[in-house]
Amino acid sequence: MKFNHEIVEKNIGLLGIFTVIAISIGGLVQITPLLFQKDTTEPVNGLRPYSALELEGRDIYIREGCVGCHSQMIRPLRAETERYGHYSVAGESVWDHPFLWGSKRTGPDLARVGGRYSDKWHEVHLLDPRAVVPQSNMPAFPWLAENVLDGELTAKKMEVFRGFGVPYSQEDIDNAKKAVEGKTEMQALIAYLQSLGHALK
Ligand code: HEC
Repeated sequence: MKFNHEIVEKNIGLLGIFTVIAISIGGLVQITPLLFQKDTTEPVNGLRPYSALELEGRDIYIREGCVGCHSQMIRPLRAETERYGHYSVAGESVWDHPFLWGSKRTGPDLARVGGRYSDKWHEVHLLDPRAVVPQSNMPAFPWLAENVLDGELTAKKMEVFRGFGVPYSQEDIDNAKKAVEGKTEMQALIAYLQSLGHALK
């Protein structure tokens, strides 16, 4: 028995193959159940897809790199739930492609920021964070108020999301351009922020 083990340890190719097999089994045991577990594959009660404007706001959130400083993932720890509210559950992000859980918290977690501040507060904050939080080191995003959306691609994006299983109706898609056209990027981003965490407060 000891002899066989020595053969494997002294043969780097064989050791490599066995290591890959061991890691693959470990990975499959952890990952496979998640693909079939209701908790991780089905939306929580009350989850609704992003509206056309919120969806555009989400793309701006991605473009501006907000996820590099803000997580959207409240961990089930007392210190976090006291500060941010109910911990995040997988069923809240089943329609998020890609999800924006993030891992860096230069600023606070935003998973439940929806409804915490007024639209006006967000506008002032995004134009000049130090106007409302003097010690803030968040950058200002003044161009968001100037850039106007044309909504040309919104319907197309929603169709792609529908392909991923997000339940957009034909009506949602038909009205998408109208809902977005002429709105500023600021309005879209704020609509997105206000929608965060609505399903599970
Ligand atoms: C360089 C890091 C950084 C980036 C990039 C950044 N933020 Fe922040 N953000 C912060 C910090 C730090 C705070 C806490 C101070 C404050 O409120 O300004 C904050 C606070 C916030 C808050 C208030 C959260 C609360 O619960 O009080 C919101 C909302 C927010 N950011 C949204 C955004 C959005 C949207 C973007 C992208 C357009 C963004 N942030 C980009 C660092 C950042």
